[in-house]
Amino acid sequence: MSKTKKTRIRIAQPWITEHEIQYVNDAVKNGWGNHSSDYIKKLEKEFSSLHKTQYAVATSSCTGATHMALKAMGIGSGDEVILPEITWASCPSAVIYTGAKPVFVDVKENTWCIDPKKILEAITPKTKVIMPVHVYGNVCEMDEIMKIADRFDLKVIEDAAEALGSEYKDQKVGSIGDCGVFSFHGTKMATSGEGGIFITNNKKLFDDFNILHDQGRIPEEEKFFYPHKLGYKYKISNLQAAIACAQIERLEELVNKKNQIFYWYKNLLQDINFIDMNHQQEYVKNSYWMPTIVFDKSVNINRDDLMKYLDKKGIDSRPFFYPLSSLPMFKKVKKNNISYSLSNRGIYLPSAFYLSKEDINYIVEAIKEYLFDKPLRV
Ligand SMILES: Cc1ncc(COP(=O)(O)O)c(C=O)c1O
Repeated sequence: MSKTKKTRIRIAQPWITEHEIQYVNDAVKNGWGNHSSDYIKKLEKEFSSLHKTQYAVATSSCTGATHMALKAMGIGSGDEVILPEITWASCPSAVIYTGAKPVFVDVKENTWCIDPKKILEAITPKTKVIMPVHVYGNVCEMDEIMKIADRFDLKVIEDAAEALGSEYKDQKVGSIGDCGVFSFHGTKMATSGEGGIFITNNKKLFDDFNILHDQGRIPEEEKFFYPHKLGYKYKISNLQAAIACAQIERLEELVNKKNQIFYWYKNLLQDINFIDMNHQQEYVKNSYWMPTIVFDKSVNINRDDLMKYLDKKGIDSRPFFYPLSSLPMFKKVKKNNISYSLSNRGIYLPSAFYLSKEDINYIVEAIKEYLFDKPLRV
């Protein structure tokens, strides 16, 4: 693992080895004609086996996978989908593509994931789906969410884009709801550049998803150019699947490195008693995809100023997600005050796979300089 640019500490960078290069070389040389889906099939088989689900469909993005999961569930105009305030914009976008309405629900102060109690308050006769999002590697309270879904006859799409490798009560996240969706974007735990994957145990959901994501074509149809219904184009390429496949085969190594980076931060930051980091309930394994710090309300941190300071030191950082309902295209949900407060107080720290303990030391030193050096900031 070598740094491509020593001078700048990157927020994220994948870990590419000879294994990925070998698969891509093979795909680029031989993955055509009769072999044009070999790595796609291999990826789907290995991913579903890893997650102990029966079916998987690789896609061109997680956004596409979410869109297709909703369509395969028959979601459309007049329906409501419950999702957290704190997540990426792809979640409400996919809902809106179907004509349904996203309903933003507040998150829990400790996990930063959707609060099951507040899901209950948001359910209406129009609600059809709950979309819990395992944010930054943290894990949602899945038992409570599944109980609510059962009680109100709702479907659950687990967004595990940021939590590949996280577990809830010994089950891989993404495999607990009716289906799960993951991202292979370049910043994610495992990457294919761009890409995603959908998993489920529901045969009907799998069949409908599979047909919809490939222009409405039925896999066993013998006629060429003969879609059976109106569909979409969200297929992954064999080349991308080759990279993702190699990464999935190295998942344990990738998760271990993210854990190592997280604990380097946690140990070096433990003397600061006014910050919180990614939470891990006792029944959860957090992949720690994105080490994140949230400052106590009492500290009155100027998050953007700290980010500028780190930037000057050659360190990338990113703000905690903006509450989705604060974005220009949505209407503010005032009662989601935990999300609004967390968002102002949180930043996430570099966790590119090449980072060493010295790099993390350097980053923590810079944070401490900002917080404690004169003029006193806290
Ligand atoms: C929580 C979450 N869901 C969905 C997505 C969408 O993934 P993709 O970029 O593969 O469409 C992302 C990507 O950043 C994400 O963070």
